[in-house]
Amino acid sequence: MLVDTHAHIQMRQFDSDRESVIAVAEAAGVWRIIVPGTDVPTSRAAVDLAARYPGRVFAAVGTHPHDAATLDTAALETQRELARRPGVVAIGEIGLDYYRDLAPHETQRAALITQLELARALNLPVILHNRESHADLVGLLREHGAGVRGVFHCFIGDQTMAREALDRGFWLSFAGPVTYPRNTDLAEVAAWAPLDRILLETDSPYLAPQPVRGRRNEPRYVEMTARRVAELRGMPFEDLVAATTRNAAELFALPMAPREEEPECASLTP
Ligand code: NI
Repeated sequence: MLVDTHAHIQMRQFDSDRESVIAVAEAAGVWRIIVPGTDVPTSRAAVDLAARYPGRVFAAVGTHPHDAATLDTAALETQRELARRPGVVAIGEIGLDYYRDLAPHETQRAALITQLELARALNLPVILHNRESHADLVGLLREHGAGVRGVFHCFIGDQTMAREALDRGFWLSFAGPVTYPRNTDLAEVAAWAPLDRILLETDSPYLAPQPVRGRRNEPRYVEMTARRVAELRGMPFEDLVAATTRNAAELFALPMAPREEEPECASLTP
């Protein structure tokens, strides 16, 4: 059974078929999906979705670096309130993005620091976005991330960057890019990273894995990424799935066993 630890299925790209996307994923063995927010409205939508699919869909609440300027005092208070709702397992996605550079770096850094504090206060892990900003992110975690655990989502760096994340106690999550040809640095990391510190995700609707590249990504395709990572590590697919699912359950405190059926009243009466 697989876990897609990062899928934005609350977004409008899934408005016409969200229910069937979740059902198809479940039928394909993806039994847990974590839905991260990128601002207050998408965080609220993630929390609502988790409430509709308890025990199957989980939410993360956070403001993405692109939207860092929207994280004013009121938005932060709303996030704090949303993050206490049932089914919320992380603060995310948060981080830095100096590639698309849609918010001033100082604004991004301030939003990240504030949300690291929120994660620490609520004892939740963080889901980190990191694009062309690795040195600043690691430095900022060193200064402001004491006691905060979490994952570098859609990890696309080399071994040096991976080691810096692992040394700070963070997990690495692999997405579609690990299936793309010529990503040799990333393939090396996927082959080498400690088995108990890796996760899998789709980052739906973005970054579909190689066999379906260019299409809308969805949680069921996490299997393709799992197959590629297992191949790179030279290990059986089933073992890779078991390990990454165990890791996701540990980091995000997900229920491992299938929900137990309520006993029927009739069976209790003689
Ligand atoms: Ni994302």
